[in-house]
Amino acid sequence: VEQKAELLCQLYGYKRIDTPLFEEAELFARSVGEETEVVQKQMYTFEDRGGAQMTLRPEGTAPVCRAYVEHGMHTLPQPVKLYYIAPIFRYERPQAGRYREHRQFGFEAIGESDPLLDVEVITMAWQFCEMLGIQGLSLKLNSIGCRRCRPAYVEALKGYYSRYTDAICPNCKTRLVRNPLRLLDCKEPPCRNIAESAPKSVDYLCEECRAHFGHLKSYLDLMELSFELDYHLVRGLDYYTRTVFEIQTREEGAQNALGGGGRYDYLVEELGGNPTPAVGFAAGLERIISCVRRQDIPVPPPSEPKVYIAYLGERAKREATELVTSLRKAGIPTIQAVGDRSLKAQMRQANSLGTTYGVIIGEKEVEGGTVMLRDMSRGEQREIALAELVSLLRKKEENCGKEGGIVI
Ligand code: HAM
Repeated sequence: VEQKAELLCQLYGYKRIDTPLFEEAELFARSVGEETEVVQKQMYTFEDRGGAQMTLRPEGTAPVCRAYVEHGMHTLPQPVKLYYIAPIFRYERPQAGRYREHRQFGFEAIGESDPLLDVEVITMAWQFCEMLGIQGLSLKLNSIGCRRCRPAYVEALKGYYSRYTDAICPNCKTRLVRNPLRLLDCKEPPCRNIAESAPKSVDYLCEECRAHFGHLKSYLDLMELSFELDYHLVRGLDYYTRTVFEIQTREEGAQNALGGGGRYDYLVEELGGNPTPAVGFAAGLERIISCVRRQDIPVPPPSEPKVYIAYLGERAKREATELVTSLRKAGIPTIQAVGDRSLKAQMRQANSLGTTYGVIIGEKEVEGGTVMLRDMSRGEQREIALAELVSLLRKKEENCGKEGGIVI
C-alpha cells in the first residue's frame, strides 16, 4: 500500500515531508478546534521536562501547515505539494477500524484556491483506491462555506435544532451550544432522523463559495469522476472551508470512511503565515488494508532474497564473506549463512527462505577458485569459476521473467 502511495505521489508531483511525532498541544487546539472531539477527548497530551504541553499528533494537516510557515515555504513556487505516511494517535474507543494508533497516508496542496486543485486532490485520492484495486467505493461531497457565509448557516442550523432539544441525544445537546455543524453527522437514530430535514450548507453559500463549488462539480464531471452530494458531510475537524469530501465503502458500519479531506483556506494564516488557501486528503492505512483483505485483492508477494551462500570450513567462510559483499554491491539480494551448521542444514534454510540460488563453497572449491551454483527449485547444480559468479548471476537477474526460468 505504501509503495502505491509513493508511486501516486510521483505521478502527481508531491514530495515527502516527515514532521515530528509530537507537537505543542496548542497547535492542534488552534487548528483542529477547541470544541472538536479530537481536541476535547482524544489527544495524548503530556508535559515535557521544560513544562511545555506536548501532544502526539492526532492528525497530519496542522503539522504540515506549521512546517510550511516555520520554513518559509511561501517563497517556493505555489502550490507547495507535500505528502506523508505517518502514525497518528487518538484516544478513541478501540474497535475494528478504529485504533488508538493508526497510520495515515495524506497529501496537502498549499497556496492556491482554484477549484481545479480540489479536483486534483480528489482525483488523486480516488486513483489511489483504484490503483489498489478496491471496488464498490463512493465519493461523498459537500461544501460548507467560508467565514462570510458560514455564520448565517450555523444560525439557521441552531434555529432548526432548537425545536428538537428534547429529542436529540445528550451529546447533540452539547453540540448545539458548542459545535452546531457536528449535529449533522450524529449516528444516533433519533438525531439521524432530525438531521434529514435540517437546513443544508449549500443553500447558504455566498456567491464566491457557490461559484467555487459549481466549478468544482463541473471539473469532476469533466474528469468523469462520479460523486454523491452529501449534505450531512461536515467532517470532524474545524479547519475546513468550502469543499469537504470522503471516500467511503458501501458496507454499513461506522468505520466506512477510508479517507477524507477538503479545503482549509484559513489554517496557514491562523498559524501565523500569510493568507494561504489549501486543500488536502488523508486515508487510514489500516482501513485500506482491511478493505483489500475483505475484497480478496491479490497482493504481490514480498520480494525474496535471490541467493544464499553456504560454506564449509573457516577458509570457505572467509571467501563466502568476500563474495557476499561483491554480490550485494552488484545489487543482487543475498543472504549469507552464519555459524557452523552442516551443509544440509544450510540448504534447508536456503529452501525455507525461498531463495532462487544456493552458492556452496567448501575446501575443494577454495582450492580450485570455483563455487557450486545450485538452482534451488530444480535441485540441479554445477561448478563454475568464482570469478564468473557475479556477472552470471547479474545476467540471470536481468533475464529473469523474460525466459520464464533459468537453467543452470
Ligand atoms: P480524518 O477524517 O480525521 O481526517 O482522518 C483521515 C482518515 O484516517 C479517516 O478517513 C480514517 O480512514 C482514518 N482514521 C481516522 N481515525 C482513525 C482511527 N482511530 N483508527 C483508524 N483509522 C482512523 C484527517 O485527519 C485530516 N487531517 C485529513 C485531511 C488532510 N484533510 C485535509 N488534508
